[in-house]
Amino acid sequence: MTTDNKNNQAGDSILEKPISRRDILRLAGVGGAGLLLGASGVGAIFGAKGSSASVAAKASSEDRIEFYGKHQAGITTPAQDFLMFAAFDLTTNSIDDVRKLFKAWTEASASMAKGEMIGEVNDNLNLPPADTGEAAGLNPSKTTITFGVGPSFFDSRFGLASKRPAALVDLPAFGGDELREEWCGGDIGVQVNANDMQTAFHAIRNLARIARGKAVLRWTQEGFQRTGGADPKGATPRNLMGFKDGTGNPDTKDEALMNDVVWAQSGDGTPWMAGGSYMVVRRIRIRVEVWDRSTLGDQEATFGRHRDSGAPIGSKNEFDSVDLAKKDEKGKPLIPVNSHVALARGNGSVKILRRSYSYSSGMDNRTGQFDAGLLFICYNRDTRKQFIPMQQKLGQMDALNEYIVHNGSAVFACFPGVREGGYIGDTLL
Ligand code: HEM
Repeated sequence: MTTDNKNNQAGDSILEKPISRRDILRLAGVGGAGLLLGASGVGAIFGAKGSSASVAAKASSEDRIEFYGKHQAGITTPAQDFLMFAAFDLTTNSIDDVRKLFKAWTEASASMAKGEMIGEVNDNLNLPPADTGEAAGLNPSKTTITFGVGPSFFDSRFGLASKRPAALVDLPAFGGDELREEWCGGDIGVQVNANDMQTAFHAIRNLARIARGKAVLRWTQEGFQRTGGADPKGATPRNLMGFKDGTGNPDTKDEALMNDVVWAQSGDGTPWMAGGSYMVVRRIRIRVEVWDRSTLGDQEATFGRHRDSGAPIGSKNEFDSVDLAKKDEKGKPLIPVNSHVALARGNGSVKILRRSYSYSSGMDNRTGQFDAGLLFICYNRDTRKQFIPMQQKLGQMDALNEYIVHNGSAVFACFPGVREGGYIGDTLL
């Protein structure tokens, strides 16, 4: 990094003028020094009070989702186009450090949800800027940042073992699991969604940077959904198998249903989780090459739905009711009993809220095949009663198993929403 006269003059002029996007990008050019700073350096910059620079393009309120609220955003929020998921491991044993981290993350997340630069943009050419800069000038793009803690957060390090929710269980092994350590677990899980991938990446990158000295990335996964095109806004996206994915989800506008299916309640045994939800993440690789060789008839029988319309087999429209009792002329169920929908639905009494994204992580070098699939994410009020029994059934009998393999897994207790002035996890910490 240079601090010659030329640069110092540039610094002086920045002090006199309002900061423009170009200035911000120029300041970002000295960011390499950030690697040399310890946690206290980042904390000092980040913690400095002052007006955070609003250098994002003027964001319309439609493009913004409020960070603060009764529930965390990103759960019942209509799914945005992109996902950046990250699991972190804490490297500190101090609960006070965890509180500090969660406070700093809260402040940064609230700013990023508004499309603002995080922290105070410093004009010191000898220090790295507080924000990494790549989202400068971009809209907030409906950014949501959703935080949860995994079972390992409640081990002996922080004295929180007695606070671990009974519903935050370690998942049992399921039929067909081929889990790989590199895509499993995490003390903390962060789901970032946005309608711009650069904005989503920026959020995780800055959270990781703020965490320096307190937490490190354990694994990440990017995801996407089909966007735009001729489909009407809000149409069900298609997964990489070409089928509409999300049709049978419970209606997120039905508050009573959400209280039943998604939100932990104060009477559920863990009062600090009331208004929160349990997130299950499964990295599921799809053997797309095998799928692409199967006939349309087999593909539809695998899901129990028609590919084009998304309707249940034997029906016309996507949202026609799923009638598992309907038979063909030979008396065979129209929707095969081992189809994905028949098994996942069962008698309809157990529901989850799915919020999955397709992923493509390049090629599997060992086989020359795509490493592509679904980062399955679901929210439920009690994983023991909802996700687990569902996946036990699917793992054993689902016709879909011929084409998929679960290779990553994690569970997180996602905190209730943060009140303004509060911080992530304050009901627990
Ligand atoms: C790569 C893996 C998966 C793919 C490609 C996939 C795809 C689909 C598709 C196309 C549908 C029909 C349309 C819809 O209702 O959304 C569906 C339904 C459903 N899936 Fe999956 N799924 C996968 C894994 C899972 C897993 C792991 C679970 C939970 C353990 C699950 C639970 C459900 C449920 C609850 C439904 C709705 C059933 C209903 O009530 O109609 N899926 N899935």
